[in-house]
Amino acid sequence: MENEAKPADLIDDLRRQIRYHNHRYYNLDAPEITDGEYDELVRELAALEEQYPDLRTADSPTQSIGGEASSQFSPVEHLTPMMSLDNAKDKEELEDWAERHNRYIAANPAYNCELKLDGLAVSLLYREGRLDRAATRGDGRVGEDITLNVAGIPHIPNRLDTQDPPSLLEVRGEIFMPLTSFTRLNEEQAAKEDRLFANPRNAAAGSLRQKDPSVTAGRGLSFFAYQLANSEGAPSFKTHSESLTYLSSIGLPVNERSRRVESLDEVYEFCMYWQENRHTNDFEIDGVVVKVDSLAQQGELGFTSKAPRWAVAFKFPPEEKTTLLKDIMVSIGRSGKATPFAVLEPVFVGGSTVQLATLHNEDQVRLKDVRPGDTVFVRKAGDVIPEVVGPVVSLRPQGLPEWTFPENCPECSSKLVRNEGESDTFCVSAECPKQTEQRMAHFVSRGAMDIEHMGERTVQLFMSLGWLSNIADIYRLDYEKIQKLEGWGETSVSNLKQAIEGSKDRPLANLLIGLGIRHLGTTGSRLLAAHFGHLDRILDATLEEIAEVDGLGPIIAESVVDFMKQQTNRDLIEALRESGLNFEGPPPPTQEQTLKGLSIVVSGTLEGFSREGATEAIKERGGKSPGSVSKKTHCLVLGESPGAAKLKKAQELEIPILNEEQFVKLLETGEIER
Ligand code: IVH
Repeated sequence: MENEAKPADLIDDLRRQIRYHNHRYYNLDAPEITDGEYDELVRELAALEEQYPDLRTADSPTQSIGGEASSQFSPVEHLTPMMSLDNAKDKEELEDWAERHNRYIAANPAYNCELKLDGLAVSLLYREGRLDRAATRGDGRVGEDITLNVAGIPHIPNRLDTQDPPSLLEVRGEIFMPLTSFTRLNEEQAAKEDRLFANPRNAAAGSLRQKDPSVTAGRGLSFFAYQLANSEGAPSFKTHSESLTYLSSIGLPVNERSRRVESLDEVYEFCMYWQENRHTNDFEIDGVVVKVDSLAQQGELGFTSKAPRWAVAFKFPPEEKTTLLKDIMVSIGRSGKATPFAVLEPVFVGGSTVQLATLHNEDQVRLKDVRPGDTVFVRKAGDVIPEVVGPVVSLRPQGLPEWTFPENCPECSSKLVRNEGESDTFCVSAECPKQTEQRMAHFVSRGAMDIEHMGERTVQLFMSLGWLSNIADIYRLDYEKIQKLEGWGETSVSNLKQAIEGSKDRPLANLLIGLGIRHLGTTGSRLLAAHFGHLDRILDATLEEIAEVDGLGPIIAESVVDFMKQQTNRDLIEALRESGLNFEGPPPPTQEQTLKGLSIVVSGTLEGFSREGATEAIKERGGKSPGSVSKKTHCLVLGESPGAAKLKKAQELEIPILNEEQFVKLLETGEIER
């Protein structure tokens, strides 16, 4: 088969991808790929451009990588820190929050309830009534100067509407994208065949961080003020709600749904009302912000290190939406596992657009009783993973047939197998091309053999040409043939060759990960490699010997023995040996194992160690360094600004607490100084 890809198309494609990822990284603060993967795309493009100088252009991302981000907006220090809010997820947590006030202020204060807009916090600084500076929140202390971009948002006045403006007024609020603007923007993006924004919040962030303020101005952003943060020469107020009325009177938009209430019961009523009616506005809200209204009481309550005590964000639970279940399809993984997944009419739920959702296995589909053609409830499990909850039975078309699991593999047509007592279904064909492709993609992936320049697309291409049919073929590729492919010049072939050759020296643990032995993950592979030191010893190990490895369970041990027994796998390993792959494990530990059997928790910042450095130092010496204090902890090492919970727990359990100096001694001697 001929490779059809033309260099110009490849270059175009790469440029489009890189621009897209630049946009995600720099404008949306939502990268989808790792820095390494990004670098690989740029390297690929640069190699192609070098090979085809005619196709070079001035606006290629190779000519202007990054740069835009940090130099675009200068840092500004906030007059007072922009803090975040503590959350309450239900009535009980709301009551706990209110109860904590009793120590500081009289019971039953009045509260101001406000919708919690889902956008970006900004600070607007007006001097003598003119917008002087607008800044993002940044890390709370230092934000980015976005004055020019903000000046073009119609709802943000450049001048305050008053004869007698205060000499200084800092107001904080939320910039957001109304749903109508969001829909329009995405329609325009679609018409231009540009990437769509996943949600209004990302769209607002991307629109605000434009180099060209006129682009921001055209995006239909909006703004509501929610706090008078600093002022000189402004009237003084007794309550937060009065200050909002004032802001509104001088031309700053304030959301009119805010309400002052006299009791916590009414607060809760307000929260429940808006939880039910959250979609009746032209903007997304994700909760209600509750603030003690009296400014004197706010003063008495003050702040913790992160947030004001006088305010709390009541967060709505993950929302459910309904949409059409267009189809149920089955995907094949590297182990042959056949996973059913829902193909949905795209629906915007829990902050992003969902069109695919796993249905896990046959029983789950039956249990949920969802059928293609159903209207189904969709939500984000743990607020991240899209999940089909179940059908809206009342909307089911009459006679809609139940879905049945396909009998044959959608990729290779061989019979699918589900063993008794198991919930998963498998394609067990050794020839299934999808499994091979997935296995190969896993082998070359970062966590395994980390072969750069050999992404999933390259694997697919070489498979389609008949050059790859198993992992060992990766090391038997004919580079001369590759170079004859269109779009593969000398540089890209030499890069690929170098990456493949380089992978031969990876440690044994990486090879074990790459082999994709069922149940054996990264940690298990490391343990196995460290224990046996050489693949040959694992090849011949008995179940008992493998089960002896500290930290490996019986299921993994059995799976490893099973894998090593199979002739095809033994053949594969021999072929890899012939190609010169390293079969040896990591060298034995160089540090004296002073901390063997000790569990040492580190909290706070140390002077002479980074966080990872401290943990690494403990592990290298045979110790453990878990993230939290428990009865099993031998000591707590305390640095600057430690976590309060760890310290409290250690004190409660009377666990020795060491400073950095004592920690250094401990590393050397293994003795805990009391
Ligand atoms: S008050 C010090 N009021 O929610 C308290 N915040 O962590 C300042 N937000 O990103 C926040 N609507 O931008 C407040 N009516 C409202 C709000 C609100 C949305 C955002 C805020 C911040 C997050 C709270």
